[in-house]
Amino acid sequence: MPAKFFNLSGQTALITGGAQGIGAGIAQRLGLAGAVVAIADLDQNGADTYAAKLQEEGIEAFGIQLDVSDSSSVAQAFAQAESRLSKIDIVVNNAGIAGRAAPVSEQSDEDWQRVIDIDLTGVFYCCRAVIGGMIERDYGRIVNIASVAGKEGNPNMSAYSAAKAAVIALTKSLAKEVALKNICVNSISPAVIRTPILEQLTPEQVDYMTSRIPRGRPGRLEEVAAVAHFLASSDCSFVTGQCYDVSGGRSTY
Ligand SMILES: NC(=O)c1ccc[n+]([C@@H]2O[C@H](COP(=O)([O-])OP(=O)(O)OC[C@H]3O[C@@H](n4cnc5c(N)ncnc54)[C@H](O)[C@@H]3O)[C@@H](O)[C@H]2O)c1
Repeated sequence: MPAKFFNLSGQTALITGGAQGIGAGIAQRLGLAGAVVAIADLDQNGADTYAAKLQEEGIEAFGIQLDVSDSSSVAQAFAQAESRLSKIDIVVNNAGIAGRAAPVSEQSDEDWQRVIDIDLTGVFYCCRAVIGGMIERDYGRIVNIASVAGKEGNPNMSAYSAAKAAVIALTKSLAKEVALKNICVNSISPAVIRTPILEQLTPEQVDYMTSRIPRGRPGRLEEVAAVAHFLASSDCSFVTGQCYDVSGGRSTY
């Protein structure tokens, strides 16, 4: 039975990169609160498999293939989701990659561009695809998953840090554009959360990032999902343009 507060019954949510990791955790949490969830991921099989797992838990869910870095793929996926759901109330822009950990001097044009295309331009494409419908219906909640790297800058992760800082700024800008509507656009900046994304980095890089967390441990998926749940709900009605840290105190601003 969905709780009285933060209830998402009758609402629909699309989570990019929802097949695993943080996106999967958020999709489950929103689904358990009553939302119908679209798991939109580059990995079609992963999206379908995870949607089937959520269905076993009593959550209405389905998978959609999308590449957030490809504008026509994003337009198609959102059109497909909208025709199936009739409206999209919540979008969680979570799909992302860490890229290759290396100093600026060793980053190729391709290394840089790939991270920017997925982690930043992908968020723009998805916001653009959904915002018109949200404005028309005078309702929407967008949650962009940034990173503490975007606030603090992680050495050897320049493209990632730059993309995530830009996601925080994109969030503020879009929030103000639509502030007269019942639309809230916020971001979350997690510190290290144990997910497969860490396999893209060296153990030394992960140890460095973990050592910067005052709470002395990595975060858990559920700890990100709890904050995302509030920001995705109608209870979040006067909070917009903000970036919420889920970082065990790493960046306290
Ligand atoms: N795990 C952490 O420590 C951490 C910390 C801060 C921020 N984040 C951010 O959280 C988000 C999720 O990270 P995660 O740790 O769960 O990663 P993950 O690698 O476990 O999952 C990422 C998901 O995104 C999908 N994806 C990748 N490229 C895509 C594309 N082009 N189009 C659509 N889907 C794509 C993958 O298939 C995968 O399912 C990312 O934006 C990441 O930058 C993660």
